[in-house]
Amino acid sequence: MNWVNLYELELIAKNKVEKTAFDYISSGATDEITLRNNVEAYKRIQLIPKRLTSNKSPKTDTELFGQKMEYPILIAPTAFHGLSHKDAEVGTAKAAKASNTTMILSTLSNSTIEDVAQSNANLWFQLYIFNDRDITLELVNKAEQNNYKAIVVTVDAPILGKREQDVRNEFHLPDHLSIVNLAHHMSAAQLDQRASASSLEKFFKEQLNNELTWDDIDWLAAQTKLPIILKGILHPEDAKRSLDANIAGIVVSNHGGRQLDTEIASIEALPEISQIIKGKIPILLDGGIRRGTDILKALALGANGVLIGRPIVWGLADNGFEGSIKVIEFLREELVQSMQLIGCKSIDDLNQNYIR
Ligand code: FNR
Ligand code: LAC
Repeated sequence: MNWVNLYELELIAKNKVEKTAFDYISSGATDEITLRNNVEAYKRIQLIPKRLTSNKSPKTDTELFGQKMEYPILIAPTAFHGLSHKDAEVGTAKAAKASNTTMILSTLSNSTIEDVAQSNANLWFQLYIFNDRDITLELVNKAEQNNYKAIVVTVDAPILGKREQDVRNEFHLPDHLSIVNLAHHMSAAQLDQRASASSLEKFFKEQLNNELTWDDIDWLAAQTKLPIILKGILHPEDAKRSLDANIAGIVVSNHGGRQLDTEIASIEALPEISQIIKGKIPILLDGGIRRGTDILKALALGANGVLIGRPIVWGLADNGFEGSIKVIEFLREELVQSMQLIGCKSIDDLNQNYIR
């Protein structure tokens, strides 16, 4: 359908998927303060352009972990794309390939690691660390064997946040969908615990390592040659520790406001973190990005790239892979346009001098 901005797309998506699925995708933890603030925080940052710069074709290309990128917009890992479209993550990967961007596949996908790899898109794998280290390792090995180029370990979800919509709806996957990468390890009952208020919350409590520490990250680093990126960093001391632990990169993120409510907006956590990282490793950021100017601000404050979560899924719900392509194109075009208007010729030219 026709939409001119991502707020409209959200409303379109709302009418295309089951209510319980839409609520799962769009809602956040408890009072949803962080969910809203992720978006609102961008509106409080003002741009200060430079004029008369003859800036017809600003360059958006960049490099992350030795991988060349045409533009610094990546697809965030989000679970259960089968709730939005029958093609599930295979559809999203097709969009990534067509748009020449990178997709980070969630551990909790409805398409297998192998099927998604058939797309030949540039892929990274998002890892949840399980109680059972063999399961964790199997996922990492599969990602390696299928040419995924990085492991993004999510560190902000040792347990799942409290999402009242999901509790109210008794959220669970419909019968035709499952957590396919884990299906051969767990019984149907372990994968899908309908007796609970939110089956996902129970799944996290029972299956994931609820006691995750830096030692687990050290263990993981010894198991793979792929770059390890920590997703969910907000505290400056964790940024410092990531450097000390030889982590390849970090994602400044509050999980789209879905974990601990009233956590700082990701864009507001960024300046202090970039001061610590000082360009030594790439910083990615996600949460609340709905405009090209949001991306511009993140890059100006020290991010090397951004991840897009919900809008990609809304696009998939609207029109399958073509819907997700349209979301990427929309953000990319707005980014270029805002670079033209602010007077920046390349990503590297963006810095704090352009914002207040
Ligand atoms: C997520 N997110 C997420 N993160 C992760 O590391 N593994 C996952 O499986 C999921 N699953 C997931 C499902 C859904 C429906 C959403 C909306 C989000 C968090 C995601 O990667 C990202 O941090 C946020 O979505 C970014 O915020 P925006 O772009 O949605 O505002
Ligand atoms: C979520 C989990 C799956 O945010 O990361 O729903």
